[in-house]
Amino acid sequence: MIEHPFSFGISPSLTLFDTQDRKIQRKLSDLRGHFTDRAALEELVRVGDPIAYEVLDVPRPERAGELISGLSILHPGVVGAEYFMTKGHFHSVRGTAEIYYCLSGAGMLLMENEQGEWKSEILTPGRVVYVAPGWAHRSINTNSDQRLVTFFVYPANAGHDYGAIEGRGFRKLVLRKNDRPEVVDNPHWRASAPEQR
Ligand code: F6R
Ligand code: ZN
Repeated sequence: MIEHPFSFGISPSLTLFDTQDRKIQRKLSDLRGHFTDRAALEELVRVGDPIAYEVLDVPRPERAGELISGLSILHPGVVGAEYFMTKGHFHSVRGTAEIYYCLSGAGMLLMENEQGEWKSEILTPGRVVYVAPGWAHRSINTNSDQRLVTFFVYPANAGHDYGAIEGRGFRKLVLRKNDRPEVVDNPHWRASAPEQR
């Protein structure tokens, strides 16, 4: 592990260079339970199970003071009416924030906290979203044919808590309606909480 300052690059084709990155790929089958239209998801899994998103990050020791940064690459597509999206998570250490900087494509960052508030922010090239401590976050690709690429930075000791979101989903869904994104209430949000946790 490098213990000195270092630099790396992001190429025009939006991949990292001059660094050893770690790559995570999530297929639609890894996102079971996250999309509302389960039948549509299973059909897409059956006909090829496409990659929904990839994360390239530069590993660092998971201790306070270090930062983890990298690229999140969300492919275009829909499951039923819901755009391809990330699983979404709280940071295990709730007091840790994150920065998202959009490099390419178009989408949204959907956020909510444990006090019942929610917020959505637009992601277009040049926009920066500050995810405040304690806010769960999920990115959504609302463009029908382009990748949504964001650069992120977060404290290396943050950890990822997927359980709370897997149990009850986000309060809001982002659906494609007349080829435009619309934020609507998640009808299953309360009902699904007790039985799935
Ligand atoms: C890290 C972070 C991003 C996401 C990535 C994939 O804290 O927010 O790097 O991890 O966009 O999303 P998830 O982790 O929700 O599958
Ligand atoms: Zn995060």
